[in-house]
Amino acid sequence: MAVQYDLEGQKRAYAKWAPIYDKVYVKLLADAQRKAAATAARCGPNILEVGVGTGLVLPYYPHHCRVTGIDLSADMLRKAVDKKVARHLGQVGLLAAMDACNLGFADHSFDAVTVPFVITLVPDPEGALDEMHRVLKPGGEIIVASKLGADDGPVMHIEQALAPLVKKVGWSIAFKASRLRNWAAKYDDMEVIEISPVFPVGFFKLVRIRKNAV
Ligand SMILES: C[S@@+](CC[C@H](N)C(=O)[O-])C[C@H]1O[C@@H](n2cnc3c(N)ncnc32)[C@H](O)[C@@H]1O
Repeated sequence: MAVQYDLEGQKRAYAKWAPIYDKVYVKLLADAQRKAAATAARCGPNILEVGVGTGLVLPYYPHHCRVTGIDLSADMLRKAVDKKVARHLGQVGLLAAMDACNLGFADHSFDAVTVPFVITLVPDPEGALDEMHRVLKPGGEIIVASKLGADDGPVMHIEQALAPLVKKVGWSIAFKASRLRNWAAKYDDMEVIEISPVFPVGFFKLVRIRKNAV
C-alpha cells in the first residue's frame, strides 16, 4: 500500500519560508553545505541535489559539475532559479518540482546524490532513499547533511535534556543516525562509510553512503 502523507502541508510551510530562508540559514548551514558539495564532486560530475530549496548549496559545486536540483516547493525553487541566473551558475542544469519519493530519472543516472537538510522532513525517508539508490550509479554516494540524534552515550543524554529547547527552534533529535544504517543494511550494495560532525560543534552530521559495485 502506498504511504500517504501531507505534501501540500509541506509546500505551504515552505511557501512561508522561501522569502526569509537564506537570511536565517546562510551562515548556520554553510559548513555542512560546502562539505556536502565537495564530497559529491569527488564522486563525479553528474550530481542530483534532492530538496535543493532556494539553492543555497548550488554555488558550492565546482564549475566542472553538472547539477540537477529537485524540490517539492515551487516557491523555494523560484529562488534557486533566480540564484542560478543572478550568479551565472553554469554548473547548474535542470531545477524541477518533484517529490523525493518519486524521482523522474532513469536508473543509474547520477554519480552522487546530495540531501542537505531534507531527510528528516520527508515523511517516508526510507522511500526517498530507495529512490536515491535507484538513480545512483554503482560506485556513487548518497551524501546526507542533517541534524541526527545520537543513538547512545553521553551525547544522547545531553540531547534528550535539551530536546524541548531544540524543538522550540524547529529542530528535532528524533531522527537517529542508526535509521540511515538500518536502511543501508537492507541492500547488499549500500554501506555507510563515514559519519562526521560538522559546524556548529558537531551539531550537524555529514553521512556518506556508498553504492558498491556488486
Ligand atoms: C531545510 S530546506 C533545505 C534546502 C537546501 N537543501 C539547503 O541546504 O539549504 C528543505 C527543503 O526540502 C524540501 N522538501 C521537503 N520535503 C520534500 C520532498 N518530499 N521532496 C522534495 N523536496 C522536499 C522543502 O521544500 C525545502 O525546500
